[in-house]
Amino acid sequence: CGIVGYVGPQPALEVVVDGLARLEYRGYDSAGIAVLSDGRLQTEKRAGKLANLRAVLDHDAPPADGIGIGHTRWATHGPPTDINAHPHVDNDNRVAVIHNGIIENFAPLRLELEERGCKFTSETDTEVTAHLLAEELKERGDRDLAGAMRSVCRRLEGAFTLVAMFADAPELVVAARRNSPLVVGRGEGENFLASDVAAFIAHTRDAVELGQDQVVELRADSVTVTDYDGRPADVREYHVDWDASAAEKGGYEYFMLKEIVEQPRAVADTLLGRVAVDGTLTLDEMRLAPSELRDIEKIVIIACGTSYHAGLIAKYAIEHWCRVPCEVEVASEFRYRDPILNRQTLVIAISQSGESMDTLMAVRYAREQRARVLAICNVNGSTIPRESDGVLYTHAGPEVGVAATKTFLTQLVACYLVGLYLAQVRTVKFGDEINAVIEQLANMPEQVESVLTTIDPVRQLARSLSSADTVLFLGRHVGYPVALEGALKLKELAYMHAEAFAAGELKHGPIALIEEGLPVVVVVPSREGRGVLHDKIVSNIQEIRARGARTIVIAEQGDTTVRPFADELIEIPPVPTLLQPIISTVPMQVFACELALAKGNDVDQPRNLAKSVTVE
Ligand code: G6P
Repeated sequence: CGIVGYVGPQPALEVVVDGLARLEYRGYDSAGIAVLSDGRLQTEKRAGKLANLRAVLDHDAPPADGIGIGHTRWATHGPPTDINAHPHVDNDNRVAVIHNGIIENFAPLRLELEERGCKFTSETDTEVTAHLLAEELKERGDRDLAGAMRSVCRRLEGAFTLVAMFADAPELVVAARRNSPLVVGRGEGENFLASDVAAFIAHTRDAVELGQDQVVELRADSVTVTDYDGRPADVREYHVDWDASAAEKGGYEYFMLKEIVEQPRAVADTLLGRVAVDGTLTLDEMRLAPSELRDIEKIVIIACGTSYHAGLIAKYAIEHWCRVPCEVEVASEFRYRDPILNRQTLVIAISQSGESMDTLMAVRYAREQRARVLAICNVNGSTIPRESDGVLYTHAGPEVGVAATKTFLTQLVACYLVGLYLAQVRTVKFGDEINAVIEQLANMPEQVESVLTTIDPVRQLARSLSSADTVLFLGRHVGYPVALEGALKLKELAYMHAEAFAAGELKHGPIALIEEGLPVVVVVPSREGRGVLHDKIVSNIQEIRARGARTIVIAEQGDTTVRPFADELIEIPPVPTLLQPIISTVPMQVFACELALAKGNDVDQPRNLAKSVTVE
């Protein structure tokens, strides 16, 4: 969910709704605001995208003093209806609350409150907090919203960011956090809070990171942070180096289109300053000493969604370069299967947002087991890097489209850098192959650019397939995770059935799916160094074509061996196999995006999804 709070001299409603627009990618199945006008709490909320709320506000906006809160929701408890949208209020309409996360003990709390006569209007877990806060405030003579918030938080189990306003405190917004994201923006005579800096970056770039179990009191001229017992808490202030235009569409109809085009820059920025002229890597920022990295006996990569696919690709590279066993696992499964971890295990947590709850929980579990944890992350100051032993940031800039594109490519770059760095610190002799790969890596921005300049035929192809029911994807070696990513993109954006297989597995079952005209996308590995693999996949293409498949082949320029079997050929520049995913993914992204657009879908905000899923 997305959260915004504001106290200051500007029209609060505008600031809040504008902030919500920038956070809509975090959830968009309903939206709501609360403001104060003349000491009275006014709320407005609507199911559906922010546009629905905006339409109501355009027509009938409540007058607002300089204080307001707002929320965009990704439903957990209760379907996305007007009533379940946030803010939620107490029975006297004096306290308004917005919430991100899940309050796990809401059911007993709700029963208890109902027994005391509280009337519930929604099905959400959030509403209990509005009633609890109202009770606490009553006990305190309608004073001390922060104190009330502290004692309510002590009673809650689960993960949450809670933000509250109180009719009797017209100058104050109070927020609390446990496990869910919350940052404060410090302005001149005004202050902001939000789930991430994108919400207030147009107003200020001075941010304050809140820690676990902290409460913040936001007034126009002050920001006070305490722990749940009311003791002053340590916070980290930082300056945000993204600018507002980086988070805007810049002339594109969709963020996703802009983000695909930004990929050469994103890849270049992620390499920047990390490769010295002599080819050695400088990753001191990772905060993991070479001596610690030499101790590592096993690597476990944990991640979700697209980030998981980056992890699968990293395994091929890391095992090949470093000769260290490397496992990859979806974060939501990891801690529940009693994995074997110890001090000699390096856990790499890959998360664009740094906030995915599944990954965060896996990170905590790994640290409890004494593993060393390295985060690969795109959002500075987010929770996962803060709770890890070390971090390597990707420098993709803000990604707003829900389906990951440029952050995926930069995750690959970061994974390669980690693999190459490990090889560098662990081997006495720094191999020629490693040097060659580092050199090749530097050329990748150019290669991505060249794929983008020849991508139009992929768009036409996608449009021609908009009425297909199913698309299959095949790959071998690193082409297999690329195929998985291609299929995921199509599911996310075009709502189509899409599945990926390791091409060698096809004959063990999935080949039964092939029928006349079925589109099958095949990623062909580079010929360089892995000739056998290349030849095997060419045979696989023939097998499916013989059974009627319409073959869409992604292969190296000048690869004449595949041409006779490709109904459609998408050519990409020749690069070493292990690096090929950086370029072979790009046509997949464009394919899925264009097909979704042809179907009239919103590619920035696909149905049922959220960019950053902060619940387990
Ligand atoms: C959500 C998004 C996916 C993303 C996944 C992991 O499910 O819809 O696109 O890949 O989260 O996100 P993370 O921020 O941890 O990389």
